[in-house]
Amino acid sequence: MWNYFYIFNFICCINAVTYNSFYGVPATAEEIAKFQEKNIAHICLSNFEPCDENEWSRVDGSCDNLEHPTLGMYNTPMLRMLPANYSEGFEPRKTKSGNDLDLARQYRLLLLKVGEGLNEKLTTAVSYFMEFVTADIGSAHDILTYLVSVPYCCQPKGLSNPLCTPNYIPENDNLHRFTGITCLNMTRPLSFQSTGCVAADTVPNRINLATTNFDLSMVYYYAAGSIQQTRAFEGGRLKVEVVEDGIFPSAANANTTCFLKEAFKTGCSRNVPNGLIGMNMFIVWVWRFHNLIADTLAKLNPSWDDETLFNTARDINIAHFLQIMFYEFYTIILGRENMIKEGIIGCDNGFRDPYDPKVLPGLSTEFGYAARWFHITQDARQRMYDKNNNFIDTVAIINYSLRSQNLAFNKTMEGLAHGIHIQAAAAFDDTVHPDLADLGLGGLQRSFDILTADLSKGRYFGFAPYSQYRDFCTDYTIKHEKFEDLNYLMRPSKIEELQRVYKDLVDVELMAGIWSENLMEGAWVPPTIYCIIVNQLKRSVASNRHWYERPNRPHAFTEAQFHEIRKASLAGLLCAVGDGISEIQPQVFLRIGPGNNKMGCENIPRLDLTAWKDPISDSRY
Ligand SMILES: *[C@@H]1O[C@H](CO)[C@@H](O)[C@H](O)[C@H]1NC(C)=O
Ligand SMILES: *[C@@H]1O[C@H](CO)[C@@H](O)[C@H](O)[C@H]1NC(C)=O
Ligand SMILES: *[C@@H]1O[C@H](CO)[C@@H](O)[C@H](O)[C@H]1NC(C)=O
Ligand SMILES: *[C@@H]1O[C@H](CO)[C@@H](O)[C@H](O)[C@H]1NC(C)=O
Ligand SMILES: *[C@@H]1O[C@H](CO)[C@@H](O)[C@H](O)[C@H]1NC(C)=O
Repeated sequence: MWNYFYIFNFICCINAVTYNSFYGVPATAEEIAKFQEKNIAHICLSNFEPCDENEWSRVDGSCDNLEHPTLGMYNTPMLRMLPANYSEGFEPRKTKSGNDLDLARQYRLLLLKVGEGLNEKLTTAVSYFMEFVTADIGSAHDILTYLVSVPYCCQPKGLSNPLCTPNYIPENDNLHRFTGITCLNMTRPLSFQSTGCVAADTVPNRINLATTNFDLSMVYYYAAGSIQQTRAFEGGRLKVEVVEDGIFPSAANANTTCFLKEAFKTGCSRNVPNGLIGMNMFIVWVWRFHNLIADTLAKLNPSWDDETLFNTARDINIAHFLQIMFYEFYTIILGRENMIKEGIIGCDNGFRDPYDPKVLPGLSTEFGYAARWFHITQDARQRMYDKNNNFIDTVAIINYSLRSQNLAFNKTMEGLAHGIHIQAAAAFDDTVHPDLADLGLGGLQRSFDILTADLSKGRYFGFAPYSQYRDFCTDYTIKHEKFEDLNYLMRPSKIEELQRVYKDLVDVELMAGIWSENLMEGAWVPPTIYCIIVNQLKRSVASNRHWYERPNRPHAFTEAQFHEIRKASLAGLLCAVGDGISEIQPQVFLRIGPGNNKMGCENIPRLDLTAWKDPISDSRY
C-alpha cells in the first residue's frame, strides 16, 4: 500500500539514459533485465534525460554534476564521514570485551531525563524548520516499514524476520513497569543491500529517497515523478485546494480533495507530502509562496509561458529558502562567525562562487542522523494563538505525525503560525519531552520512544565509536582513549553517567556521547553536531552547480535580482503567506524581546519581484 514512495515514472523519458543508481554508471542490458525481473528497477536504476549544461536545475536532481549525472538524484547511495563499524553479519558492533551492548532503552533512561524545559533565546520555529530542512535531503520512510509493512516486530512472528530490530524494555523501567509494555516496534534501515540492488555481503548503504542537494525537493519532487501531478501546468503554478479558506498543497483533479484525505486509508496523498508537523507546516507556506511568485511574475511578464514561469518561480523560491536556511537559521544555530570562517557563507552581500566540480554531491549518513539530536529541542506541546495573540489551545504535535491533513481544520495553521514565533523552544539540554519519550507517534503506536530509537538506529547504521568521531572532529590533534579525555567536552557528572553504562570509552555510541556534551560556545549545538553539520554544509555548497550565490550558473540572477534574494527572512515568508500574520518579530527563530519586538509586516523587508520584469517583454507590450 505504501509503495507509492517508490512509484517510478518512465513516462517522461523518451531519450532517457539508464544508470545503475548505486554505482552511478550506465547500466548494462543484463542489469536492467535482472532488476526488472526482481521488480526492483525503480530503486536500482536511475532514468534521466541526457544532460544539458545550460538548463535550469532539474527537479529530479540529475545532471547537477555533469561528470556524475546521477549523484544529485533520489535513490542514490549515501556517504559516510567515517567507515562503518559493524560486528559480523552487519549486526551492531560489540563492546571492547566482546559482549553485546545493553538495551538502548536502558542507556536512554540514564542519559536523558524526561521532562520539560525552556530555551531562553530560541522559539519553537527552530525545531520545525530543522524538520523541514531535513525533509529536503532525507525521508522518514523507515517509519512506514514498522507501521505498515512489518508491523509485527514485537510479536513472535517478528523473531524470524531479519528486518525486525525492536527495542526491548528493561525490567524495572521507570515507566513501563506500570504499563506492561515490554517491547517497542522498530525495523532495520532499508538499504541497497536489503533491497537486492547490491550483494548482501557488502556494507549496508542507505537509500536516500530525496534529491541530494538542498533544492526544496520536499515541495517539488516529493516522490519520484510527482511533480507531474502537482504542477497545474498553467501560469507556472502548483496545484492547490481550498479548505476552510486556507490554501493547501494538492495533487488532486478539480473539486476532489486530497490534502484532507487520511493517507493511511486512501493513499490519496501519494503526491502531496504527509510527514511530520514541522515539515508539513513549512511545505504549505513554501508551496503558497511558489504560487505567489508565479502569479506576480506572470503579471510582470505576460509573454512568459508556463514552463518559464514555473522554472523562474521555483528558482526564486529555492534561493529564498537557502538564504533563510544559511544566513538566518544556521547563523543562529552554528554561529555566524563560525560559518564565515568555515567558508559556508560569504561575509558580504555580493555574489560568490563556491562551486568546485571535483567536490561530488553527496549526503553523509551522519548528517541525517545528527538531525535527530534536535528531538531534545522540541517542545512537543505547541501552543496556538489567534490573530490578536490570544491563547486558543495546545496541540500535541505527535498527533499530527503522518496525519497532516488535520492542519487544514479549525484554523490550526493560523494557530501554529502565531504559536511558533511566540513560544520558546524546549531547553537544549538533557531533558526530553514526555510525549517524545513515552508516546512518540501519537495514536499510531501504543508507545514509542523516539530517543531510544535514535540511539538504536545508530547501531544499525554501523557508526564508529564516538571517540573516533571526536578524533576526526579535532582533526586528530586530540586523542580520545580514556574517559578523562572527554573533560573538555562535558561536565564530570556526564562523564560519570557514560561510565556507568559503558565500560570503556571505545564502547560509547555516537549519539550517547553527543547527548552528554555541553553546547559549543557561540553556537546552539554540541561540538560533534557542529562538526557533522559543517562537514555536510561545506560539501553541499561546493558541490551544487546551481548554487544560488553563483553569478555564473545557468540562468543566474542579475545583480538587482540577487539584491532582492538577500532580503529573504522567515518573517518575510510568514508575512507573505503565513495564516493571518500581520505583525511579527524580524527574527522569528529568536524569541520576542528587546531588539526583536513585533512590528507590522509593512516594516519587514520583502522581495520586490519587479527585478524579474523582462526588458524584452517590456518593449513588446
Ligand atoms: C570498530 O570498533 C571497535 C570498538 O568497538 C574498535 O576496536 C575497532 O578498531 C573498530 N574497527 C574499525 C575498523 O574501526
Ligand atoms: C468544480 O466545481 C465548480 C464549482 O462548484 C464547478 O463549476 C465545476 O464545474 C467543477 N468542476 C468539475 C471538473 O467538476
Ligand atoms: C474542530 O473543532 C470542533 C469543535 O471543537 C471539533 O468538534 C472537531 O472535531 C475539530 N476538527 C478537527 C479535524 O480537529
Ligand atoms: C492526541 O491524540 C490522542 C488520541 O490518539 C488523544 O487522546 C489526545 O487527547 C490528543 N492530545 C491532544 C493534546 O490533543
Ligand atoms: C507494535 O505493533 C503491534 C502491531 O501493530 C501493536 O499491536 C503494538 O501495540 C505495537 N506496540 C507498541 C508498544 O506500540
